[in-house]
Amino acid sequence: MKILILGSGGREYSIARAISNEDENHELFFQPGNGATSLLGKNLDIKDYDQLAEFAKENEIDLTIVGPEAPLVDGVVDIFKANSLTIFGPSKEAAQLEGSKVYMKNFLAKYNIPTAAYIESDSIEELFKFTDKLNTPIVVKADGLCGGKGVIIAQSHDEAKKAISEMLSGKSFGDAGKKVIVEEFLDGYELSMFAVCDGDDYILLPAAQDHKRVGDGDTGPNTGGMGAYAPTPLVDEELYQKVRERIIRPTLDGMKKENAPFEGVLFIGIMVVNGEPITLEFNVRFGDPECEILMPLMTSSVSDMFYKAATNRLGEIKVEFSNQYAVGVVMASENYPYGSSTPAEIIVDETHHDEIAENTHISYAGVSMEDDRLMATGGRVLVCVGLGDSIKEARNRAYLRCGQVHFAGKKIRTDIAYQAL
Ligand code: AMP
Ligand code: GLY
Repeated sequence: MKILILGSGGREYSIARAISNEDENHELFFQPGNGATSLLGKNLDIKDYDQLAEFAKENEIDLTIVGPEAPLVDGVVDIFKANSLTIFGPSKEAAQLEGSKVYMKNFLAKYNIPTAAYIESDSIEELFKFTDKLNTPIVVKADGLCGGKGVIIAQSHDEAKKAISEMLSGKSFGDAGKKVIVEEFLDGYELSMFAVCDGDDYILLPAAQDHKRVGDGDTGPNTGGMGAYAPTPLVDEELYQKVRERIIRPTLDGMKKENAPFEGVLFIGIMVVNGEPITLEFNVRFGDPECEILMPLMTSSVSDMFYKAATNRLGEIKVEFSNQYAVGVVMASENYPYGSSTPAEIIVDETHHDEIAENTHISYAGVSMEDDRLMATGGRVLVCVGLGDSIKEARNRAYLRCGQVHFAGKKIRTDIAYQAL
């Protein structure tokens, strides 16, 4: 197939890598891609979605896969479908499940899907009144996309009210904070679950755990994610079943009733409280770095799964996973997540050890290619992935691979998967 992938991160690289490893020969295109995807296919520079759809038609692209949320919320799927192109991802309307936390919370409430008690409003009086009824900590969220920064866990009522005021005034998040959610704090452990959906049917992937804080022991500010592992032993069959029955099924049925059938990846942020799964949030795309550890666990065809999902035929296929575990350790630039860093050349040692060569790989993200030199350009630069028959084995291999990658200012967390060990 000719496949176009939208995005430039490790997530998109890992999808492309999995597709490149399939028996069938595929031709890959990236918009915009990164310095390493150029080794797997052709990087494009077509920012306008109408022009991109034109390119896809002219070049007979069989399937387009959308990685990040922004093009989805902007309606790229609607534009491609209007051009009779096959694209995997939710419509602009369905992408509201991530694009607007107010839409998501009201949807969850309407269809009785478990979530934290909340109020959504643009009235400071109403929000303050609800805040006074809650115990601390109190969770305050801006409605719109804020690049992962729109959630404040306030330790006092005063701090919560300050966050509310700053959001409503537009001071902290501009228009994204015009509406605010105040909700109860849920105390439990967090999971990421991913369902690949075609509007009616879905495939639930092995549950993963992300590490959002920048520092060891979950300290420091939030990031996009510093590492992940799957499957997590924190989920048993009973919990999977609860997530299927209480969250995924009613979501797919509900979205159909809303005339916005959900096609694409439903990323469910779950807090498990006393054994019960509660929905923290939805995203409408794969997590990054979760995608980087889930792709290598799939033993059936990744491209076929996306193609069947994009053509409403998921029911026809069986998606299979290996019995192994995967651990991904993010290697970030010096100043991540505070600011940009000076570009630095990446040197990857040759792997002479068969065990490491066969059971690890690198997914590239914040990199560029300059005169055949791979450069770290900042942010999250790459993910070292290790596979193994236990989480411990996979983790040890991932960290051995990390030791073989060098660039000035490289930064990793040293405790990925600690909750499972
Ligand atoms: P969100 O963007 O909604 O996933 O929120 C970002 C992070 O804030 C989540 O990954 C959780 O760690 C935390 N969080 C969000 N909502 C709650 C809540 N109601 N109770 C506890 N933690 C929360
Ligand atoms: N790793 C979490 C996210 O992609 O939002």
